[in-house]
Amino acid sequence: MTDRTAPLLEVRDLSVSVARDGTPTRILRGVSYRIYPGETLAIVGESGSGKTIGALSVVRLLPPGAKIDSGSVLYKGKDLAALPEEELRGVRGAGISMVFQEPMTSLNPVLTIGLQLAEPLMEHKGLSYSEALPACEKLLEKVGITDAGNRLAQYPHNFSGGMRQRVMIAMALACGPDLVIADEPTTALDVTVQAQILDLVDALKKESGLALALITHNLGIVAQRADYVLVFYAGRVVERGPAEHFFKSPSHPYSRALLNSLPKMSDNPGEPLKTIEGLPPSFDEDLPGCPFAPRCPEVFDKCRSAEPPEFRTGERRGSKCWRGEPGFKP
Ligand SMILES: Nc1ncnc2c1ncn2[C@@H]1O[C@H](COP(=O)(O)OP(=O)(O)OP(=O)(O)O)[C@@H](O)[C@H]1O
Ligand SMILES: [Mg+2]
Repeated sequence: MTDRTAPLLEVRDLSVSVARDGTPTRILRGVSYRIYPGETLAIVGESGSGKTIGALSVVRLLPPGAKIDSGSVLYKGKDLAALPEEELRGVRGAGISMVFQEPMTSLNPVLTIGLQLAEPLMEHKGLSYSEALPACEKLLEKVGITDAGNRLAQYPHNFSGGMRQRVMIAMALACGPDLVIADEPTTALDVTVQAQILDLVDALKKESGLALALITHNLGIVAQRADYVLVFYAGRVVERGPAEHFFKSPSHPYSRALLNSLPKMSDNPGEPLKTIEGLPPSFDEDLPGCPFAPRCPEVFDKCRSAEPPEFRTGERRGSKCWRGEPGFKP
């Protein structure tokens, strides 16, 4: 039985940089969070805020030029940030699997779907191709692909975009992982299939304690499915906490702006949608202060001179905003 009270993954103070024209640029700064078994953790934030780099750094699948500068990623008593590549390969796919943001580029066009789906089972479970096939067929059925037996002999180009995305999800689930990190996994799927896949993941969460780290721009899915939310801004986790708190009483002004930009039933038809004014800061300029200060409707002097640390706002809750500093008076 999985102990659901001990964290499955603990990311501590993770910083990552990418070399651009030879100069390292800090992309992630001091990212910390925990994921517990059976939990759905949603990772939200604007495009370019570091969600994908944050996910890839967990299993060290960073793009060329990117590297972990400091911090640790604890999983089953091991620090994945420091684990030899050889050992890490045993974790990827088997313990922690990924559904990548671009399913089209993640499948090999010259191999059959069957071979690609069987690969993790052959590598991690020691099965032969013919032994793995029945499991592959079941996996395809589980993600809602009909005629699964015949489909296994086909190639990625025979599948639609949404079907390829489902194959990626099936591959991620193949070895019964503890944690699936899914980067925008349902964007190419229609809402019915999307719900079916998320239901499947929910069932696995209950059954086996599977945990899901879900990167998404869809706050509707977050509201329905997430237990816990991380809000990324400019490579930092500016707010973290249980999903119900994030929606009912967000602590960080950026979280409030994000939620305010959602269309509401009560909005007047024809009125423009609310947007967050301004642009996120460039990673190249190292400005003092809070990275959200230039766009923040609640900014005050201190925000421009010193970057706020995380202030605890409750059980497993925190916000990097000076307004949360103990003793703060508006
Ligand atoms: N392969 C790469 N090489 C260099 N820089 C990169 C690379 N991938 C991402 N970056 C940079 O890292 C920063 C964070 O990017 P990341 O892809 O993590 O954002 P994201 O939050 O996932 O955005 P989106 O919502 O658009 O997927 C961006 O400034 C981006 O330009
Ligand atoms: Mg991304």
